[in-house]
Amino acid sequence: MSDSAKIQLNKFELDSRIITGSENEKGFDITKLRPTTGHITLDPGYGNTGACMSDITFIDGEKGILRYRGYPIEQLAEKCKFTEICYLLLYGELPNSNQQELFSQKIKKEQNIHEDMKRFFDGFPITAHPMAILSAMVTSLSAYHSDTDITNPDKIDNDIIRLLGKVKSFAAFSYRKSHGLPFIYPQPELNYVENFLHMMFSDAQENYETDPILAEALNLLLILHADHEQNCSTSTVRMVGSSQANLHATISAGISALWGPLHGGANQRVIEMLEQIRDDGGDYKKYVNMAKDKNSDYKLFGFGHRVYKNYDPRAKVISQAAERVLKALNVDDPLMDIAKNLEHIALNDNYFVQRKLYPNVDFYSGIIYKAMGIPTNMFTVMFALGRLPGWLSHWREMITDPKSKINRPRQIYTGPILRNVKPVGDR
Ligand code: SDX
Repeated sequence: MSDSAKIQLNKFELDSRIITGSENEKGFDITKLRPTTGHITLDPGYGNTGACMSDITFIDGEKGILRYRGYPIEQLAEKCKFTEICYLLLYGELPNSNQQELFSQKIKKEQNIHEDMKRFFDGFPITAHPMAILSAMVTSLSAYHSDTDITNPDKIDNDIIRLLGKVKSFAAFSYRKSHGLPFIYPQPELNYVENFLHMMFSDAQENYETDPILAEALNLLLILHADHEQNCSTSTVRMVGSSQANLHATISAGISALWGPLHGGANQRVIEMLEQIRDDGGDYKKYVNMAKDKNSDYKLFGFGHRVYKNYDPRAKVISQAAERVLKALNVDDPLMDIAKNLEHIALNDNYFVQRKLYPNVDFYSGIIYKAMGIPTNMFTVMFALGRLPGWLSHWREMITDPKSKINRPRQIYTGPILRNVKPVGDR
């Protein structure tokens, strides 16, 4: 919906439109700004800039609300399987039983990778970070499937299903490789989450029984990570995808963006921070003071958010799940106590309250991954596994939009003005 508007910018007047979203978010349409005024906007970090309109996910950062296609994240996490959420994000509705069965079967058919691709793992050092392996393997799919055709809906869906099937296998194989273990093949009778746990932890010498506690916890974590509108990695997917690069290269770019410690890489940094505090006598107040010290660039990983200026609704669900999982597994993890103490301080200390710094999605997730036996350097791979359907949904929404263009932001140049080259002897 849009209303006409006149925007007064200094001495300029711009005939514009105010775009109103379905949740009453409002934006100025400035598509005519430069041709009308000769000016552009400048918004480093894009905190005030909408890159697109999207039907997929709604966030209210002030109220701490997150919904996928209108459904509250809390209900989806409690009532759905991860593959149902993949379907919902991609196609806009929760699947009925037949649709769910067909969709799951299509993903299962894509779980195995080309036998030649297994040899790629021999080239990685055992110390390779699993995110390096994941992004390399996803890009390498382009070498086997270069027939992306964004004008063909069936091809679009085939590429999407292929990635939903294979990325889970790449993730499990990267773990097996780093532990010198043989790759485990998926089992047809297991669902997405059960197969991942089987491919990660099965022992070739004995039958693997899925622990329902771990399966339920992993299902919940994948759902909570599945999408988050225009975050850094999803915006990267939209940016790369806007050049009509093939989907494998596009998703690999998203994986690389997620790896950063300010984004998805934070979940690994949180556990490393909590372990550092534990090993330093548990003196969490010392680290809070370091984070508050203007002369230190130390940050409390897992706190703060570009959009949430309230408690991240995902962190609430994850912290409750962490308590449940630790209790059910009879694990007494001192990191949980340290995390709870840090949270208590952040919710009461003026430094954090003034800056609206609350625990985010990454703060408690690692405690569950750790209790499941997933190594710390795999945590961001787990984030990528969850976020994959979100990336794919935004790519699909963009690439099927007939008005979609290649993304090309402008800049304000501040470098040297025109000057002539002097011969090297005169410089
Ligand atoms: C994710 O965008 C998404 O949706 C991302 C995500 C998703 O699902 O895709 O939600 C996933 O990436 C969550 C965020 C994970 N990152 C971390 O936990 C890293 C630690 N957090 C910070 O780096 C920071 O909070 C950011 C990057 C998350 C947000 O940065 P902002 O909003 O740009 O805030 P800022 O850097 O401008 O900081 C504002 C103030 C500063 O102090 P002053 O200069 O005003 O005195 O808050 C301080 C900062 O120093 N601050 C922190 C802090 N985060 C911000 N101080 C201590 N510890 C922190 N974590």
